[in-house]
Amino acid sequence: MLKAKKLLFSTFALLELHMLLPTRAAETFIRNPIDFVLPFIGTTDGGHVFPGATLPHGMVKAGMDTNSPGNQAGYDADPQFLPIGFSQLHDSGTGGSASLSNFKIWPFASCPSFTQCPTDLFGRAVPRKLLPDGSVDDFASPGYFASNLSTGIRVELTTTRRTALHRYTFPANSSQPRLLVDLTDDGQQSGSEVKMALNPSTGRVTGGASFAGSFGPGNYQSFTCVDFHGEGYNFSGPTEYGSWFFDTVTQNATDLDEVFSGSSGALLTFPRSPVRRGTTSILVRVGVSFISSDQACSNAEEEIPDWNFNRVKSDASNEWNELLGRVQINPAGVDQETIKLFYSSLYRTHIVPADYSGENPKWQSSEPYYDSYYCNWDTFRTLYPLLSLHDPSRFALITRAMIDIWRFEGNSSEGGCPNAGELQSNNGFKEEAILPTLQMGTQFLENSLSSEYHEYAGALNVSVSDLYSALVTDSESEPNDWDLQGRQADIWVEFNYIPDELFLDFQGTPTRQVSRSLEYAFGDFAISQVAKILGNSSDAAKFAQRANGSFNSWNPTTTLPGWPTVVGMMQKRNSEGVFDQPTDPRHCSVNDPTHSTCFLDSNNHDGFYESSPMVYSQFVPHDTAQLITLQGGQQAFIDRLNIIFNQSYFDVTDEPSQQIPFMYHYANRPGLSTKQSRQVISDSYNTSVNGLPGNDDSGVYPLQTLRAMGSYAVFILAGLYPVPATRQFLLSSPFFPSISFTNPLFNSTTTIKAINWQGNPPDGSGTVYVANVTVNGQPWQSNCYLDWSHFSSTTDTTIELTLSNNISLGCGSGANALPPSLSTGGFD
Ligand SMILES: *[C@@H]1O[C@H](CO)[C@@H](O)[C@H](O)[C@H]1NC(C)=O
Ligand SMILES: *[C@@H]1O[C@H](CO)[C@@H](O)[C@H](O)[C@H]1NC(C)=O
Ligand SMILES: *[C@@H]1O[C@H](CO)[C@@H](O)[C@H](O)[C@H]1NC(C)=O
Ligand SMILES: *[C@@H]1O[C@H](CO)[C@@H](O)[C@H](O)[C@H]1NC(C)=O
Ligand SMILES: *[C@@H]1O[C@H](CO)[C@@H](O)[C@H](O)[C@H]1NC(C)=O
Ligand SMILES: *[C@@H]1O[C@H](CO)[C@@H](O)[C@H](O)[C@H]1NC(C)=O
Ligand SMILES: *[C@@H]1O[C@H](CO)[C@@H](O)[C@H](O)[C@H]1NC(C)=O
Ligand SMILES: *[C@@H]1O[C@H](CO)[C@@H](O)[C@H](O)[C@H]1NC(C)=O
Ligand SMILES: *[C@@H]1O[C@H](CO)[C@@H](O)[C@H](O)[C@H]1NC(C)=O
Ligand SMILES: *[C@@H]1O[C@H](CO)[C@@H](O)[C@H](O)[C@H]1NC(C)=O
Ligand SMILES: *[C@@H]1O[C@H](CO)[C@@H](O)[C@H](O)[C@H]1NC(C)=O
Ligand SMILES: *[C@@H]1O[C@H](CO)[C@@H](O)[C@H](O)[C@H]1NC(C)=O
Repeated sequence: MLKAKKLLFSTFALLELHMLLPTRAAETFIRNPIDFVLPFIGTTDGGHVFPGATLPHGMVKAGMDTNSPGNQAGYDADPQFLPIGFSQLHDSGTGGSASLSNFKIWPFASCPSFTQCPTDLFGRAVPRKLLPDGSVDDFASPGYFASNLSTGIRVELTTTRRTALHRYTFPANSSQPRLLVDLTDDGQQSGSEVKMALNPSTGRVTGGASFAGSFGPGNYQSFTCVDFHGEGYNFSGPTEYGSWFFDTVTQNATDLDEVFSGSSGALLTFPRSPVRRGTTSILVRVGVSFISSDQACSNAEEEIPDWNFNRVKSDASNEWNELLGRVQINPAGVDQETIKLFYSSLYRTHIVPADYSGENPKWQSSEPYYDSYYCNWDTFRTLYPLLSLHDPSRFALITRAMIDIWRFEGNSSEGGCPNAGELQSNNGFKEEAILPTLQMGTQFLENSLSSEYHEYAGALNVSVSDLYSALVTDSESEPNDWDLQGRQADIWVEFNYIPDELFLDFQGTPTRQVSRSLEYAFGDFAISQVAKILGNSSDAAKFAQRANGSFNSWNPTTTLPGWPTVVGMMQKRNSEGVFDQPTDPRHCSVNDPTHSTCFLDSNNHDGFYESSPMVYSQFVPHDTAQLITLQGGQQAFIDRLNIIFNQSYFDVTDEPSQQIPFMYHYANRPGLSTKQSRQVISDSYNTSVNGLPGNDDSGVYPLQTLRAMGSYAVFILAGLYPVPATRQFLLSSPFFPSISFTNPLFNSTTTIKAINWQGNPPDGSGTVYVANVTVNGQPWQSNCYLDWSHFSSTTDTTIELTLSNNISLGCGSGANALPPSLSTGGFD
């Protein structure tokens, strides 16, 4: 697991009880949820979490960049790494290359002279100030970031959607406050075709460059517009100015026009504050655009006309409090750590995808435009289902943005639906892109449109017919570069599995045949769900039939080495239908004798992506009942799940494992799911800077999936797990005496109350097992799942769970007590 580096932050000091404000409205327990958010969770040891300032899904994400290796999100909390700039974009929790650390600003307190400032990217680094416990003097709260540098300069950042506002407070002994603008470094030093213009009388710096994406082919351009303003005093412009190139400063130069890439930008000196022996605060307003530097200027002028740092900061924190406050927990008897884990996880689910509306350089459209999906493969399971509960309008905007990408690119040779984002060309490398997009559409229709279609479709403004066309196109039309986006549709439709020897992907090797087969099948299930909602019964039947293709990869004779009773496994087969090249079920797990990884590389011919055959042999979310039959019945299924946990096949660091802790439900043993899922939290999550599952040691792409990890934690703590593309939420018990979700679209709140709630023993035992369930006082048909209708009413809903300490309780006795599966009658 992760190398433990115990870094403690001043901000991690225990939160005081005053944050638990008295309730005004009956259900408001947590007035200011941002007080419980610790943005530094996962910011070292390869966590790649962005701790800087952003609005919910804001395009601009202003943060510190350090000279650490693997600084995908710019920042590392470890004091051995030194700051090298404060840049404006950023992603969060991704793998791939470091990117979006664009347009760094950097302060110099006292260079020997203007031309002797150490301007070069790595040469300018200085340590942060350290606190007495040895940790760095950095602070972050939603919408705000601050740091004290060892030069005595204090840096503070806040943002609007497309503009960052920085405040640099220079110490009194700084006679010449200077600020550098870096136009070329984006975290991977990919900037080329750099253009810059500096206005000597105002100091305004405009310009842009071309940059590489993080995980995919192609380049994108971005532009900036940087203005400076004294705080508490006025100046008309810089006293010195010039351009720099690596470590060479050219005084009085106002332009740059470089074709090749190289570290470069502008350097300016500003007058000190007139207050004698006082500090000097300079505000830097940084507009960003993907269209032009003129647009970057107009974005900045429009969003921050007043240069009021505290106003921008408090607008941002108000927006975060409103959003996070839609989910309320009753904190009585709950430890602070759990509350902080909950709101911090919820916070992280709202950093990306990012709202780039108005900044689409590729086509003209009035539709919303989002980027940094990175990756839908990771986020379909829990992120979008969570948005549907408390932020459906955002979900609708993201869905419309995806449909719009399909409208403009979906029928071209570029193929299918987007995976990871357009501007960054993060289109995936993963044909599984189809799956989440379909899921998303389905969930959307299922969750927000179906029952209340006429009332809400208008408000959400999603074109259902375009959405359905996008799903069907993506499933049935094979793009030329299906390895980048879309799927290998022709072969799938012909065989209903991906034969192991047919057709090469972009690296010239047949890879991931089994995991792709399972994902395509699940995607087709999602389409059948949408077709049903639309009343297209022939399509519904066709796609449901194709979804049953999951089982075409089932080899009933494969066993797990050392465990002869574990019989039957998902395996590769050739186009003749023969399982001709067995893959060891331990492959790519910690028990793999060959220590293989299942990443995207040309050595992976083994049929599976990022998880073992043991894990993928559980991945048929639409028909777990049939899986149980194939695995030898309920007891054999339970034994196999136990082995998955007790032999460490379950891999919390990667999404294919996510549903497994809840699968005991389908064998009528929900108590075992409750115990197992609660252990996931105690074993794998905490609020330290390295407190997230996922690590470099096992070779996992370090936490490319963090936002999915955040929404996963939110669901487990809420006592729920969404079955993607369905209306069902598997039910466990919440970590709180009650939890409620307010849905602004329906203007209603659903509250889950746990009667007999007594706390959260770390081993998942105690009075935590659901004995019975009522909905608005009426008994509900199952103790194992809730339905979307419980969350989509236009009046408030109260769900009461009576808890017991009996782990053996089942799902109930009625015909609908077990969660649904296609082969047992399907999903209504
Ligand atoms: C930085 O120093 C200032 C005092 O100059 C202090 O108020 C602040 O808490 C320190 N830490 C951060 C992260 O701003
Ligand atoms: C200037 O003052 C700050 C504290 O305000 C200190 O950290 C820094 O070392 C001083 N710099 C110089 C060059 O004296
Ligand atoms: C700075 O200039 C503005 C107008 O340009 C003026 O309203 C303001 O009072 C000035 N501030 C100071 C501290 O002189
Ligand atoms: C830069 O311009 C200023 C003002 O015109 C002038 O005084 C100075 O000598 C120039 N410096 C250089 C290095 O050209
Ligand atoms: C793709 O097909 C859809 C539906 O047929 C159509 O509305 C859209 O204009 C097409 N887009 C392109 C770029 O051809
Ligand atoms: C709804 O979406 C269409 C494009 O799909 C757009 O033209 C229209 O302005 C939108 N209406 C509203 C109310 O947002
Ligand atoms: C069902 O959808 C398909 C497209 O996938 C379309 O061709 C067919 O006409 C639709 N049928 C009905 C009854 O709407
Ligand atoms: C689904 O696949 C299983 C296993 O191949 C098969 O037994 C079953 O009949 C199929 N179901 C349908 C509805 O085709
Ligand atoms: C793991 O689970 C299996 C199946 O339930 C059981 O037979 C075995 O004893 C368990 N092993 C451990 C170490 O708990
Ligand atoms: C938090 O979790 C990480 C990763 O699992 C672990 O290395 C670290 O020791 C944990 N910290 C605490 C305080 O439990
Ligand atoms: C939402 O519901 C509350 C009562 O629960 C009501 O006071 C309020 O007016 C409603 N708001 C809207 C926009 O319908
Ligand atoms: C619910 O479960 C509790 C605890 O097992 C039990 O005391 C109670 O009678 C049950 N209520 C119903 C309505 O079944």
